[in-house]
Amino acid sequence: MSQPVFPAETRAAFAAAYPASPAKLLHRLTEHPLLTIDALAELAQALPAGEIEYNPGALPIGIAPDDVPKAQMGVVETIRTIGNSGSWVALKRVEQVPAYRDLLHALLGELRDVVEPRTGAMLLLEGYIFVSSPGSVTPFHFDPEHNILLQVMGEKTVTVFPVEDEDLLGAEAHELFHRGEHHRNLPWRDEFAAKGQAIPIGPGEAIHIPVKAPHWVQNGDQPSISLSVTWRSEWSYAEADARAFNHVLRRIGLRPASPGPFPAQNRAKALAWRALRRLRRAA
Ligand SMILES: [Fe+2]
Repeated sequence: MSQPVFPAETRAAFAAAYPASPAKLLHRLTEHPLLTIDALAELAQALPAGEIEYNPGALPIGIAPDDVPKAQMGVVETIRTIGNSGSWVALKRVEQVPAYRDLLHALLGELRDVVEPRTGAMLLLEGYIFVSSPGSVTPFHFDPEHNILLQVMGEKTVTVFPVEDEDLLGAEAHELFHRGEHHRNLPWRDEFAAKGQAIPIGPGEAIHIPVKAPHWVQNGDQPSISLSVTWRSEWSYAEADARAFNHVLRRIGLRPASPGPFPAQNRAKALAWRALRRLRRAA
């Protein structure tokens, strides 16, 4: 039988951190045949075009959405020349290709006995692969999924910020996000820098990024390949639905309290939102 992707000490470190804290982890995927440049160029051809995004590298940390220039090269060429194309490529929802789905399910399966007792069923398992040129920056943003970013080639530094700090990410920004009215990049201010925890990862290392913890990513001076494995949970859906319900309360002039961090379950507001959504659909 092949070895697990995550060594025993990593499963212990993950258990100590999940779901609220960032953690540096180890993995055994650096030699994996599905994660070479050749395999990823092939994957880019197998995925629907809508699942591929590529942007130029060397972006400032906080770029305005309208200022992101459009890339010129094709995606396969961009991947093959990643050492000097000054770009980054995101291959999204790679589980649409069976071999990648098997890999994703196998490695997340190793963590299921930590995850499910705390945050409920592991739902919507998705994999994203990022291929980036030296020096590329992924601007300051947050994601609604539980996420582990596994570094396969090259190095990057992920700077993670506390999820509950509403100076960084206000309650209304959360609410707009869940209504689909929020651009992925967040406004950056230089005084935020002191609140971040910079975690460098190299080949064989990974980082757990908690749900909605703001972060930005700086690539090292070598081309980089990383695999991001994400999932949703009953707990993360309840937090999201409580945010959506708060938006309704705010619109009628109230100033609702933000959902509590884990282990708060946010069930009452989530149920209220789900009831309201059903009423609206029925109307
Ligand atoms: Fe992210």
